[in-house]
Amino acid sequence: MNRNLLVRPLGIGTLSLPNNLALAPMAGTSDLAFRRICHRMGAGLTVTELVSARGMMHDPAMRRNWRYLAIDADAGAMGIQLFGADPDDFAAAIWQILDHPILGRCSLIDINMGCPVRKVVSEGAGCALMQTPQLAARIAQKAVAAAQGLKPVTVKCRSGWDDASVNAVLFARMLADCGVSAITVHARTRAQMYGGKADWSVLAAVKAAVSLPVYGNGDVTCWQDADRMLRETGVDGVMIGRAAQGNPWLFRQIHSQDGTGPGPEDRRDIILEHLAQLAELLGEATAVREMRRHLGQYLRGTPGAARLRAAAMAVTRREDLENLLGEWQIRCQ
Ligand SMILES: Cc1cc2nc3c(=O)[nH]c(=O)nc-3n(C[C@H](O)[C@H](O)[C@H](O)COP(=O)(O)O)c2cc1C
Repeated sequence: MNRNLLVRPLGIGTLSLPNNLALAPMAGTSDLAFRRICHRMGAGLTVTELVSARGMMHDPAMRRNWRYLAIDADAGAMGIQLFGADPDDFAAAIWQILDHPILGRCSLIDINMGCPVRKVVSEGAGCALMQTPQLAARIAQKAVAAAQGLKPVTVKCRSGWDDASVNAVLFARMLADCGVSAITVHARTRAQMYGGKADWSVLAAVKAAVSLPVYGNGDVTCWQDADRMLRETGVDGVMIGRAAQGNPWLFRQIHSQDGTGPGPEDRRDIILEHLAQLAELLGEATAVREMRRHLGQYLRGTPGAARLRAAAMAVTRREDLENLLGEWQIRCQ
């Protein structure tokens, strides 16, 4: 095996990323707290969850969106993902980001052209744009122009809408002509949603068709998968979604090519760090409530997980959750 193929620096437009591993945008997961942790574990890029380009205009003070978009220097390179169906909305949102004293420091702007959710596609946004490539091109051109070369604009799409319309190759070529700096392809169709198996042959075809950096995405769950995706498809980077939920150590494992997972103490420490950062961002009560969901992911497959999760449902204070975790850790040893 050629070990050098795996983790390596990656350039996206004017941006130099330390490595080619990325945390996928995930609604409900990719907040600042988790992005920071994944960055520390070795993700070279993290991306916020999707935020409505039009919604940004109605939230000039970022009261609603701040929790999704918050960035800081500790979180490394970070992309802001926008969704929408009106090119002007993207231009306005990007100007707003560039003008913002903190968001203006983001590393890139990513356009969502892959979301399969009915509410999004029914408005012509997300993966619906793969069925309206002319509109997708106008959005990409407007976004690239609005970013004025100050930030690379990237796109995340799927293989296509359904089996009968797998068009990622043509779509990627078109986006490259629009000035987009990189493309991520989730190797599933919209019809597949998150089921079935990702078809990595689409990744190889897209990579062969464009000279832009391409991130492959879909079904990478261990360092061997990341290695195989890079070698088999030739993509430049690997973007990881679900397998990183509650498992930020995956990035470290890919770097070291060693699948050893965290011990109970390490797991507890990261959960506590996540909780503390959520509390800073959202206040204690919301942080504890949100942490219950993350806990299920962090504790997946560990002894006593079900008992701890059940007990966590009843607590509202950070201190109580910390105590429960302490007890869980002792039981694990
Ligand atoms: C809970 C959840 C939320 C997601 N939210 C987003 C999102 O906001 N934007 C986006 O482009 N993709 C989103 N995705 C898709 C992921 O970024 C990724 O493309 C998909 O999960 C496939 O990668 P995986 O097999 O590594 O999980 C989401 C996926 C999940 C499971």
